[in-house]
Amino acid sequence: MQATALKAKLDTHPIAGALGAEIEGVDLSRPLDDATLAAVIDAWARHSVVFFRGQNLTVPQMEEFGRRIGDLSIVFYVNPVENSSHVTRLLRFADAEPGTRSYGEYWHMDQTIHVEPPKAFLLQSIDCPPYGGDTQFASLYAAYDNLSDGMKALCDRLVVVHTPGGFFGKGDVKKPLETKGSASQFNRSLTELEGYINQEVEHPLVCVHPLTGRKHLYMSRNYCVRFKDMTEQESAPILDYLQRHIERPEFTCRFRWSQGAIALIDNRCTQHFAINDYTGFRREMLRLQISGEAPVGPAMPRRLEAAE
Ligand SMILES: [Fe+2]
Repeated sequence: MQATALKAKLDTHPIAGALGAEIEGVDLSRPLDDATLAAVIDAWARHSVVFFRGQNLTVPQMEEFGRRIGDLSIVFYVNPVENSSHVTRLLRFADAEPGTRSYGEYWHMDQTIHVEPPKAFLLQSIDCPPYGGDTQFASLYAAYDNLSDGMKALCDRLVVVHTPGGFFGKGDVKKPLETKGSASQFNRSLTELEGYINQEVEHPLVCVHPLTGRKHLYMSRNYCVRFKDMTEQESAPILDYLQRHIERPEFTCRFRWSQGAIALIDNRCTQHFAINDYTGFRREMLRLQISGEAPVGPAMPRRLEAAE
């Protein structure tokens, strides 16, 4: 960011060694001055995920803050909340049957299946259970930094195929929407999503972050089905190894939600996992997605298709 002198001093407290920090003393319900915004973005670049407690933003206030980070976008097959075209709701009812799947209860990134995937998203806790329902985050910087030099050199050369089919299933092995969380949030049936499910997009396995200039892994096992020019069978051992490596506890942090807490999550250099351990309690979150650019890395230094 330009003009360091303009940067405000923030009260920032890391919550783990690899990533994640709470920021105190910032009121996101009011328009941020340029110096405070620059400081927030600087802290976000350093910690990858930043949290602001007690915000209780209205939907328009959440959109206003999101727009300061970038253009808003939406997952086209998920219904937005009333009076918004971008904010969506993640809701699990207290009477959900034990064992019912919840939204995002596995390690993943969001929507990497686009040529220009979202760079970030905001979450706000509206209603959180008395215990449980935490979200974990993993640093894809730490995961890359802690590979051997030989593995880094291999990863630097690889391109990964991302497809919604990895999440929804393909052909006769489609996974029902009910296993994805609350089916009512989806505004399309699997049949209507058919053409979309089969789309494939390629991204470099190692990317260079536009804010920090640092290398990080860029993969999400739910979408990443194989490496370019390799079969799924050949790719799986490496993808599975890297996913297990990413999940190492020392590369992660875990956030305990409180009502009105906001998370600003960098969807380029982190994975996340919504822990489903609150059966019998209601949990409601609001989500807002922010557009990004085509990821760039040593295996794909130029992305001409991004101009399409
Ligand atoms: Fe997610």
